[in-house]
Parts: sequence; structure tokens; C-alpha cells
Amino acid sequence: MGLFDETLSGDESLFVNELALDAEFLPKNLPHRENQQQYLAECIKPLLQKRNGKNLLIIGPSGIGKTAAAKFVLREMEERGLDEEVFPIYVNCWKKDTAYKMILDICEQVGFKHVFNKKADELIKDATTIINKKAAVFIFDEVDKLESQQIIYQLIEDVYRKSIFLITNTSDWMSELDQRIKSRLIPEILEFKPYNHAETEDILKKRINYSFVKGVWNEEALTLIVEKTAEIGDIRSGLFLLKEAGLAAEKKSSKKILVGHAEEAISKLPNFGPKKAEGLSEEEKELISLIKNNNGKSTAQIYEVYSKNSDKSYRTFQRKIKELEEAGFLNVETKPSEKGGKTSVVKTKQA
Ligand SMILES: Nc1ncnc2c1ncn2[C@@H]1O[C@H](COP(=O)(O)OP(=O)(O)OP(=O)(O)O)[C@@H](O)[C@H]1O
Ligand SMILES: [Mg+2]
Repeated sequence: MGLFDETLSGDESLFVNELALDAEFLPKNLPHRENQQQYLAECIKPLLQKRNGKNLLIIGPSGIGKTAAAKFVLREMEERGLDEEVFPIYVNCWKKDTAYKMILDICEQVGFKHVFNKKADELIKDATTIINKKAAVFIFDEVDKLESQQIIYQLIEDVYRKSIFLITNTSDWMSELDQRIKSRLIPEILEFKPYNHAETEDILKKRINYSFVKGVWNEEALTLIVEKTAEIGDIRSGLFLLKEAGLAAEKKSSKKILVGHAEEAISKLPNFGPKKAEGLSEEEKELISLIKNNNGKSTAQIYEVYSKNSDKSYRTFQRKIKELEEAGFLNVETKPSEKGGKTSVVKTKQA
């Protein structure tokens, strides 16, 4: 055995496909979500029989396959040519958070191109005319990020045959759903639960097959990452750890990914999901930095500063704080106030 056998040479890599570790990557199969995918398909099936589809509210914490399962079903529809009869429409409401942005996206997906100089209302009319020649599945992902629910209401009213799936990880969002929408949608609730240890291990191992050279993972290093991922309950964190450990090993020119590399990756794990930091809007980033500068003050005091540069209502502001808390950016503690009531004190987590 030569001295350099364990050393990676300059043009060698531990990865065969690094992209397969991206959170956006859609693997060929989605193990352990078969039942949920079947359920989604059942809701859509009536549309293929010229009837109306079922609506769903899909809930569950971050990184457990809600988006992936929904996109899988749409992809399968396309692969089987069912998009001839039903438009598969997917919108990420975090990215398209206004009615205008959303309807532009929908127009693009249904192939309507004459969008210039038109207002949202006109575009909704144009898009629904096209959609009504067939039927549609609308998936509104991260729906709690939508500025106004009016457009959902309008699509419910104007599109004849459809299934609407709303996805959120804000558990009590249903109570924020406009009553007019709720009573028209009457959605069933499909709850996604975090994967258990064995499922997490299986999912990560399959992902490794796509992305790493065979045999580069040390058993113990992988166990460490599986355990950490199962503890967090978020596959996205697991993918982050696999990639970071691989990169750490490559940096040291090691041919194997060892426990030390896994530990280094774990030490880099932010205390919020990796996606969330990237997904924050400019406005949210500004709000977090404002809170950082006012760490430990009450919600009301922070709103006082915030409202100098914003016309958002206190209620909207409180909702934002709650969302950022749920996403793991903030700590909100309720304390007794000086006047005898209660007050909420807000702090950033990474401060
Ligand atoms: N069963 C699975 N098999 C393979 N990969 C999975 C599985 N479940 C989730 N993943 C992967 O984990 C990552 C996160 O999943 P996904 O984006 O669906 O999370 P989510 O539940 O929509 O989370 P969020 O609420 O934060 O949007 C994706 O890369 C996805 O491909
Ligand atoms: Mg998602």
C-alpha cells in the first residue's frame, strides 16, 4: 500500500453529481410518501372524468417532502400525458407573493403570452378563459406567504373544474384563511408527519447513491449525519450535511468521508433550515436586522420603530414575527409586564 493511497488526486472528486444534493433536485422516487402521493392523485382523478376535483390543505413542518410529493404528482401527470386534459399549475407563493406575480406565473404555465401592460384582473380573465377549456390542478405552495388571498377566491369562482392544493407549514394558518374561501373550498386536511429514524436513513442513503462515488462514506460518519437529521426532523438539513461533509473531506484530499468531516459539517449547520435563510425576502431580512438592533424589546416597542418606515398594520407585523419565530429565526418569550399584564419580548437567534 502506497503512502498516498488514501489521498485524493487533483482531478478526482468524491461526488458524481453534486446537484443531486440540492434541495430543488427531484429524485426518481419518493420513498415513504407513497400514501400521500396516492391521496393527491385520488383528489385529481375526478378531473379526468369531467367532474370536479377535491381540494386539500397540506400541512406539516419543514423539509419532510410536502413540496416534493406535490411536484411528483404533477410530473407524473405530465409524463402520462394527462396534462392534455388537466393543466398542472404549481406556484411558490413565497416567490410570487402578490396577485400580479402569481397570475403572471400562471399565464406562463398555461402558455398565455400577451401579458404586457395588463393588470392582474385582466390577466386572471385571460388565464381562466384558457384554463376553462380544460381543467386545472393548482398547487399553491407556501401559501401563507401570499399577501392577499383575493386571487385564490377569484380562481375558485372563475375556474369551473379544478383541484386546489394549499401547502403550508404554519400549523394554525387555517384560522387565517378567509371565511369566503374556506366555505367554498371546504378542503380536506392532509397532514405530513416527520420521517422516523429508519425512513430518514433510507432517504439519505438513496440520495447518496445519486450523488457520491460508491464506497466513499465511512459508516460511522453517515450514522452521525442520519442521527442529526432525524433529530432535527428535516431532510433538507440532511442534504446540507451530506454535501458539507463531502466538501470537508475533499478539502483535506481524503478519499473517504470520515467522522471528523461529518462533525465539521454539523458544526456549520445553521440553527434554522438552510433553505430558509436563502428564501427570506428583503423585507424579512430588514425586519430581522431591525430586531437584532433592538434585541430583547417588546413586540410593541419594535413595531413602533418598524412602523416609521412601513404602513403595515400591527396585526400583519405580529403575523410576520410569528412566521419568523416558526422558521427558527426569532425567540419570542411572554413575560409579565410592568403594568401587570403580559408582554412579548423578541430576540434574534443568531445574535
Ligand atoms: N421521501 C423522500 N425521498 C427523497 N427525498 C425527499 C423525501 N422527502 C423529502 N425529500 C427531499 O428533502 C428536501 C425537502 O423536501 P421538501 O422540499 O418537499 O420539503 P417541504 O416539506 O416542502 O418543506 P417546507 O415546508 O420547508 O417547504 C427535498 O430536496 C426533497 O427532495
Ligand atoms: Mg416546501
